[in-house]
Amino acid sequence: MRRTRVLEALSSTQARDAILVKGWVRTRRDAKGLSFLEINDGSCLKNLQVIVDAATPAAAALDTITTGAAVEVEGALVASPGKNQQWEVHANALQLLGGADPDSYPLQKKRHTDEFLRSIAHLRPRTNKYGALFRIRSEAAFAVHQFFRQRGFHHLHAPIITGSDCEGAGEMFRVTTLPVSPPPGTPERAGAADDFFGKEANLTVSGQLEAELFACSLGNVYTFGPTFRAENSNTPRHAAEFWMIEPEMAFADLQDDMDLGEDLVRGLVNHVLEHCAADLELFARFVDPDLMANLRTIAEESYVRMPYTEAIAVLQRSGKAFQFPVAYGVDLQTEHERYLTEEHCKKPVMVYNYPKEIKSFYMRLNDDGQTVAAMDLLVPRIGELIGGSQREERLGVLERRLGEFDLRPQDYWWYLDIRRFGTAPHAGFGLGFERFLMMVTGVTNIRDVIPFPRTPKHLEF
Ligand code: 4AD
Ligand code: MG
Repeated sequence: MRRTRVLEALSSTQARDAILVKGWVRTRRDAKGLSFLEINDGSCLKNLQVIVDAATPAAAALDTITTGAAVEVEGALVASPGKNQQWEVHANALQLLGGADPDSYPLQKKRHTDEFLRSIAHLRPRTNKYGALFRIRSEAAFAVHQFFRQRGFHHLHAPIITGSDCEGAGEMFRVTTLPVSPPPGTPERAGAADDFFGKEANLTVSGQLEAELFACSLGNVYTFGPTFRAENSNTPRHAAEFWMIEPEMAFADLQDDMDLGEDLVRGLVNHVLEHCAADLELFARFVDPDLMANLRTIAEESYVRMPYTEAIAVLQRSGKAFQFPVAYGVDLQTEHERYLTEEHCKKPVMVYNYPKEIKSFYMRLNDDGQTVAAMDLLVPRIGELIGGSQREERLGVLERRLGEFDLRPQDYWWYLDIRRFGTAPHAGFGLGFERFLMMVTGVTNIRDVIPFPRTPKHLEF
């Protein structure tokens, strides 16, 4: 018999004489002559209630069945008289597939803290909250591909091992096969030339540079993959490994870039609202009571656009005692970003045209010679969700900018070639996928929206 998923059983339009269900027991309750098992197989938030009558052969297996056990049930799908569910299963046969010792199984019926569940990240997707979260994550990832495909973007697989530093910030993880300590008798420590690639190699911090090369060939492209940053910042918004979505458009400027960023965020939120209603409701009920109102604002209203100079003026006029003082030329801190989006604009805001000193070498220098065509999208409760820019397409200006950042033009010869041969205006951005998921679920710690978080001094699983 073909296995019926719990989601299919619960959305059935008719009773069925015989179905086969497999899943994990969430709870077990015994009444006179009957046992009630709540079975979940991960296909949806809801459990399927299975009733085992002590008078049937199915009851023989009951002794071994506890919370967390994997079971197989054959029975009839019948309309349920209870008001919590439309359908239930009356078991004819019940088989234990794998037991779970009740004395050591860590997920008992009570509510567990997020901190505790992080320490058992291999089991936390079996809880309602994390099951819902990772179903939403899966659906949102699908929505990313659908969004770009519908707009004619091509998906690019950017390399994970790179020889360049896109952000020029040096926060990279080195990739090496050299021994940690040289074997005895080695005269001197081996250098990069002796290493696997014959030069220094790192895990990528961004697929942008590669995306630019492909945008200047295929037109519109996007990457969606893991990126790595060795920032030693232990905040609820930073992970050492996170996923980023990076679109890049040829023949596009900063306006086009901001338009695309706004469309993408709105499109993804609408997709999740439409396709993850049951899972989202859990977060609205137990995590953030304002979640639905916030998501509707993000999905329906247009976003504020504000030059950096104006953002600084707004912050200075705010009368707030910020921990980091505000002046023209400072990089915006999370407290500033959150004031702008939560209190001043009360909706997402795109800040653009930043001073050139606080942004990356590749951003296009504006005519004022002081600012670059950069933009950040700031959203309530998160701060920066997107960072992007129009790219410097003028060879001479770009070479000068590399020099100002102490980067060697010969390391970027291929990047500069794009400006030598058929250079064209182009623009793109990076959207942090975990920060998007925090926004959509109301979860406040990045460690709780990625299956296995990697942060300073933490690498379990
Ligand atoms: O602003 P960032 O550093 O921009 C870039 O990497 C550009 N190369 C993107 C581009 O133009 N193609 O990072 C982009 C986004 C941030 O806005 C933030 O959402 C997320 O990536 N991000 C992080 N998310 C989690 N943990 C970290 N350590 C992050 N660093 C950046
Ligand atoms: Mg940024």
